[in-house]
Amino acid sequence: MVSAAHSGFHPDSHGESRTHTGLLGGLAAEQLLRLCDAVEMSPTDATAYAQVLTDALGPVAERPLALPPARSFLSDDHTPVEFSLAFLPGTTPGLRVLLEPGSGSDDLVANGRIGLGAIRTMADRWGFATGQLDRLEDLFFPASPEGPLALWCALELRPGGVPGVKVYLNPAANGRDRIVETVREALGRLGHRRALDALPPADAYPFLALDLGDWDAPRAKIYLTHHGLSAAEAGVLPRTTPHPGRERVEEFFRTAGGFPADGGGRLSGRPALSCHSFTETATGLPSGYTLHVPVRDYVRHDGQARERATAVLRRHGIDSTWLDRALAAITSRRLEDGVGLIAYVALVHERGRPPRVTVYVSSEAYEVRPPLGAVPSHERAGAAL
Ligand code: TRP
Repeated sequence: MVSAAHSGFHPDSHGESRTHTGLLGGLAAEQLLRLCDAVEMSPTDATAYAQVLTDALGPVAERPLALPPARSFLSDDHTPVEFSLAFLPGTTPGLRVLLEPGSGSDDLVANGRIGLGAIRTMADRWGFATGQLDRLEDLFFPASPEGPLALWCALELRPGGVPGVKVYLNPAANGRDRIVETVREALGRLGHRRALDALPPADAYPFLALDLGDWDAPRAKIYLTHHGLSAAEAGVLPRTTPHPGRERVEEFFRTAGGFPADGGGRLSGRPALSCHSFTETATGLPSGYTLHVPVRDYVRHDGQARERATAVLRRHGIDSTWLDRALAAITSRRLEDGVGLIAYVALVHERGRPPRVTVYVSSEAYEVRPPLGAVPSHERAGAAL
């Protein structure tokens, strides 16, 4: 276990000062504490979760920020941590954190071993079963794994100090040519034999995710990549019944992507991702649908990304001041001075629940991407030569 003191995390650093000692875990824990405060979580839970985060990060928590980042594609600047907020009307947002426990090791085998170890440590600590993950272990953790990740984990930071745990696995682990086979086999082992056939056409299958532990309805989730998606195409992606509503999905897509209300256009750069979730094996049909728009690649700067996210939130009757508080908790830079702080904006539909908006916020521990049209500092008038 990484001790809080060693990772530079000080529970009493809650507040305006940035007192982390220049270590990744310290910075991430501090960002988390400030976020917890922004969403009015109790200080007891906040302190506990900051420790949970540094523990789950493992050895990279102690990596000096002055060193280049370890290999991780979890975020654009390779920080192995990303925060997100889940918004519903009339209530405080839920706070989640996505992380890569094994990012500090340069081979995927070790990365996966560390990741599995982190999940099992959590299972022991909070008393949940890992049967679903155990059933897939040989599939996703072969002797010579391939692909961009081994295991990511997301923690839903609930009141009371025990998080909901989600695990993200890599369908390309057995090679790119065996992705569909791997996903089909995994879903079959989980009892979702017809799930793959229920999904819309896609360009790739980047992740398969599992809810572990105490969930009302634990999900198996399949993420799909859609290059060059248009609003009209986005509207017909969902395979859930009831359908979330074509117009609602199209409108969300246009707002998040920055397209005119009545207009066409495609996300021709970084692709949108959809996610279908399966919670029962009786019908073979998905019960949940999410569309993720990578807003950061379709704005000039984060001020514009914030406007998009705010418009989506307001459209769903959600008070957007929560988002502003959260952004201020993560960074003190001006939103116009970079792009990528808001990574994705997503709209979530789950059967029997009101739609939810989620916003993914980067830690930017290593780098802030300059805004589009920015003049590099060395070319600015008056810059020292
Ligand atoms: N950074 C990766 C990407 O942009 C993976 C990722 C991180 C992601 N957070 C996400 C994907 C949230 C979808 C939604 O694709």
